[in-house]
Formats: sequence, structure tokens, C-alpha cells
Amino acid sequence: MMYSKIIGTGSYLPTKVLTNFDLEKIVDTSHDWILSRSGIVERHIAADQELTSDLALQASLQAIAAAGISANDIDLVVVATTTPDHIFPSTACILQDKLGIKNRGAAFDLQAVCGGFVYAMNTADLYIRSGQARTVLVVGAEVLSRILDWKDRGTCVLFGDGAGAVVLRASATPGIISSKLHADGSHRGMLKAEGNVRGGVVQGDPFIKMEGQAVFKFAVKVLSEVVEEVLAENNLQGSDIDWLVPHQANIRIMEATAKKLGLSMDKVIVTVATHGNTSAASIPLALDIAVRDSRIKAGQNILLEAVGGGFTWGAVLIKW
Ligand code: UT7
Repeated sequence: MMYSKIIGTGSYLPTKVLTNFDLEKIVDTSHDWILSRSGIVERHIAADQELTSDLALQASLQAIAAAGISANDIDLVVVATTTPDHIFPSTACILQDKLGIKNRGAAFDLQAVCGGFVYAMNTADLYIRSGQARTVLVVGAEVLSRILDWKDRGTCVLFGDGAGAVVLRASATPGIISSKLHADGSHRGMLKAEGNVRGGVVQGDPFIKMEGQAVFKFAVKVLSEVVEEVLAENNLQGSDIDWLVPHQANIRIMEATAKKLGLSMDKVIVTVATHGNTSAASIPLALDIAVRDSRIKAGQNILLEAVGGGFTWGAVLIKW
């Protein structure tokens, strides 16, 4: 039996910090509202010239160093992003080049919005277990700030920029134990950025639009379902989980999922206060922080879960 084992993690946050108090000066909102409704205090915003691949590069260099490998050992690069550098080439191809990888392994982007990192982990795991790849760089990287309407207080206060990366390697011992993905396109209208380029002109609304309450309810429902599904498949219970590493959209969604699992919040890695919602980057960012501060340790059961536009959702169970 072949498993995919995380052998290194890394993350990167842009230097500029935007606090709730800064936002009070831009839109009709308040620090108290944002904190009480979402758990967010501040978020990082990429500099004008900083691209998703730049954020991804910094996170990847850290993950590669932590893994103790050389970049050329990586035979697959998967970048989960909804804010790619360009229409094409893919951010993964740009990242592969910036890392100096010359081995001609595969590289592609994967777009599942906030569900992107669990989608990418599931995909990378399948490549490793099928023998098509041995060492995979999985990155979640976003500059969501570029597609925010700074006049829409219902969205612009929630999101931030950042990147996280992991190196997965084929291993005889676990590893990713199992993962589950779902999607339901019929709900796509609740969370969207519908703009497109046609004839060199942006058509439609390129900014994020969200029906917050509807997304909230949907998120709580499907996350509870998918974590139960993954645990049941492995004959595990909530109490067997050492750390829940959820997508960081809203502290209240994380609390609801933890409650459903019977987990206290001190078993949940929470970064939303200082990162905001960084979409596909939120889980690998949280993971890296908890690995580096030694909360996450060898032998523990780690459960990742996320939901995002599409809608897409999923969970990944890992024996660390
Ligand atoms: O990444 C995956 C997808 N995203 C999510 O998971 C996000 C899911 N949704 C949420 O996290 C929450 O629904 C929000 C944080 C977006 C909003 O929280 P809520 O408790 O659902 O608030 P609400 O939308 O019901 O709004 C309550 C009130 C409204 O005023 P009225 O109608 O009660 O007078 C809003 O207009 O708060 C108002 N409001 C604001 N007030 C101050 C909405 N946004 C703001 C704001 N500042 N930024």
C-alpha cells in the first residue's frame, strides 16, 4: 500500500496588514461587527506588483526547505487558486519555472475556490498512489483582494491574501488516510465572481458576490456531512481527531463543525483572526503555523475540511 506523506510545509503572508479599523474608513462597517460576525481582526493584502505566483514561491521555498529535498525532486506541481497570475499560462507552470524545476514533471492549476486545497490534496494523493508522481508540491495561493468590491461591505471585510504549501511524498506508511470531495453546481449563484474577458473587455461583474447567510447555512450543513463521512469510512469518531484544520472563513462555521464532531475549540487550528478568509490558501497557512509551533506532531490524526464557491467541498484525513 502506497501513501502520500506530508514531509514539509510552508506559508507566506504579504507584508501589508489591513485592520478592521482601517476598513471602518473605507466602508460602513465596524471592528465590532466584523469581529463578532466572522472572528476576523485583520488580514494581509498583497502589494500592487505581487502576484499569486510570488506568494506561492515564498511558501513553496519554505516547504521545500522543511522537506529537505531539492526543487528538482518535485515531479508534479498543483496550485489551487481562483486568482491566477494570468488567463494562461497556469500559475503552476510559472511557479515551476520560478522554482527552477527542470525535470519536465507535470504542473497544473486547480480551481475549486475555497475548496481548492482539499481538492488539490485529493488529486495529489491519487497521483502518488497510482504511481504517476512521487514528490508533489501542493500549493494554495490567492490574491483575493484583487477581485473584491471595496464598496461591498458584505464581502470586502472578509477576505485576505496569502499562500501555503506542502510537499507530499510517496511513503510506505501513512500519510493521507482518506479524502472525500463533493460538488453541487446548482448552488453556484450564492457565491460567484462572474466576470469574463471577451474581445479584450471585461464582461459582467468581476467582483465577488455572496449571499452570506445562505452560504453560511450551506457551509455548516455540508461540512458536518463530509467530516462525518470521512470519519465513518475509517471507523473513527470526532474524539479520535487530534487537530481539526478547517478552511478559515468564519469562526462561527468552525465552531459549528467542531461542535458537530464533539471537539472543543482547543482542538481546532484557528487563524481567521489574523488572516481573514484566504480561500484556497487558508488551510495550508493554518497547517504550517501549527506544524511550526509544534501543536501538530507525528502520529496525530489531522482532519482538513473546506467548502467554497461552485459549490465544492471536501475533507482530508491525515495520519501525521
Ligand atoms: O469561503 C467560503 C465561503 N464563505 C463563507 O463561508 C462565508 C459565509 N457567510 C458568513 O460568514 C456570514 O454570513 C457573514 C459574515 C458574511 C455575515 O454574517 P451574518 O451573521 O450572516 O450577517 P447578515 O448577512 O445576516 O447581516 C446582518 C446585518 C445586516 O443588516 P440588517 O439587514 O440586519 O439591518 C447587514 O446589512 O449586518 C449588516 N452587515 C454589516 N454591517 C456592518 C453586513 N455586512 C456588514 C458589515 N459591517 N461589513
